[in-house]
Amino acid sequence: MEKQKVFIFDTTLRDGEQSAGVSFTLNQKLKIAHQLQKLGVDIIEAGFPRTSPGDMEAVKQISKEVRDCTICALARCIKGDIEAAYEGIREAANPRIHTFINTSDIQIENQLKKTREEVLAQAVESIRLAKRFTSNVEFSPMDATRTDREFLFRIIEAAIKHGATTINVPDSVGYAIPSEHGRMFRDIIENVPNADKAVFSCHAHNDLGLASANALAAVENGARQVEVAVNGIGERAGNTAMEEVVMALKTREAQLGVSTTIHTKEIYRTSQLVERISGMPVQWNKAIVGKNSFRHGSGIHQDGIIKKRETWEIIDPAEIGIPNGTQLVLGKLSGSHAFAKHVAELGYQLTEDQMARAFEDFKKLADKKKQIDDRDIEAIIAQRTGDVFSPIWTVEHIHVASGTHAIATATIRLIHSDGEIRTDAATGDGPIDAICVAVNRIIGADPALTGYSVQNVTEGIDAQGTVVVRIKDEDDIIYSGQASDTDVIIASAKAYVTAVNRMLLMRLKKIKTS
Ligand code: KIV
Ligand code: ZN
Repeated sequence: MEKQKVFIFDTTLRDGEQSAGVSFTLNQKLKIAHQLQKLGVDIIEAGFPRTSPGDMEAVKQISKEVRDCTICALARCIKGDIEAAYEGIREAANPRIHTFINTSDIQIENQLKKTREEVLAQAVESIRLAKRFTSNVEFSPMDATRTDREFLFRIIEAAIKHGATTINVPDSVGYAIPSEHGRMFRDIIENVPNADKAVFSCHAHNDLGLASANALAAVENGARQVEVAVNGIGERAGNTAMEEVVMALKTREAQLGVSTTIHTKEIYRTSQLVERISGMPVQWNKAIVGKNSFRHGSGIHQDGIIKKRETWEIIDPAEIGIPNGTQLVLGKLSGSHAFAKHVAELGYQLTEDQMARAFEDFKKLADKKKQIDDRDIEAIIAQRTGDVFSPIWTVEHIHVASGTHAIATATIRLIHSDGEIRTDAATGDGPIDAICVAVNRIIGADPALTGYSVQNVTEGIDAQGTVVVRIKDEDDIIYSGQASDTDVIIASAKAYVTAVNRMLLMRLKKIKTS
């Protein structure tokens, strides 16, 4: 049976921007919109043009530049809003107008101060007007989950009859629970006579933390469009998180029988971009894109992961664009296998007895210290084996130039342990790449950079950043390096050189023992 497609409608730039404290500039909106296009979303809700000249400009510009997605503009069921929406999207390759009106009694009576009949008439009139501008019209009966069911059926039937091609049924206040949300979609599709003439969409808010679960229940009951925002940002507790729904649909595709056309390898990059631009930090334990999503602390889990990743991971982090994302975090719960693997990554070859003793020391230290870093492990190994890590190369000087209109260039001077000084410069795809290329030219090797992460270890303007890099030698052995500095570029260069030193030391050991 052919899988049905679920359309991904991204509202990061509209409902996402409604998050308290978030406001995007035109350039930021364009950056996000281009990345959403790379991600492969079907529809971008670019803004609400009637609300401000800035929103109008952004919608217009996105319509001109982003040609592979449908570009949608929001409008109340009000003539001026609909005209403004069209003004915004008229140059889009595929324009859509999304018009909405409150339909729950509590909002009709207290906010609009109208009757149901007046609301229905206003919705019909607005859809007819929108239809004069574009054939692609979406209608939302706002606060649908608290709307009288019979009235909901009537207004949806009228909306479809007058030309709405997508019916979005929002849980505007995040009130629904999954079973009833799914049932609502099934009831609508079964009871609205012309339901087969429209695509049904869900728009779930996260006030009860149920947005993704509600979205999946809607899909299981016939919805074929899901409205989402990257990192789940949005009004109050936010919207349905794009990454959660997309990965749930992908991971459980066999069960759900539907799929999206999202390029999942772009998810992490998109999440990082929106985090950076919105200033809304992603919580560590956030599903899919949180810092801890692929970090394993328990010794039992780490042991399983080393034997086969799938024992404790349902998603390969590479699938969402985090290469080498799986991380075994060394701490008091870690087992001997994870410890031994890390020791090897640091470039040490220990006998069985040395490893057992070093592991004992490590466990004792881990009881006292929450975060064990490479320096701690090296100190333990030095004590047990006398094998002190003495670098072959040290960084003497770094100069990096980069910018929006400049090719990143790095000049590096390294000192060899025998006193020789070498300097080289290189350009690269960004400052980190330039540093790696320059170092490689000096040392005459070309390891693959397989992991790079930055973490701030202190707060404030003078915060220290810790950089961890992983490199892979020709024989597939991984080596890691770590360094901290108030300048992350300097920390990056030092971390890379540390990893390179470990690789070179291991090569020397191999030559000696062969
Ligand atoms: O939450 C909501 O109901 C909305 C509508 C405009 C669709 O954001
Ligand atoms: Zn909303």
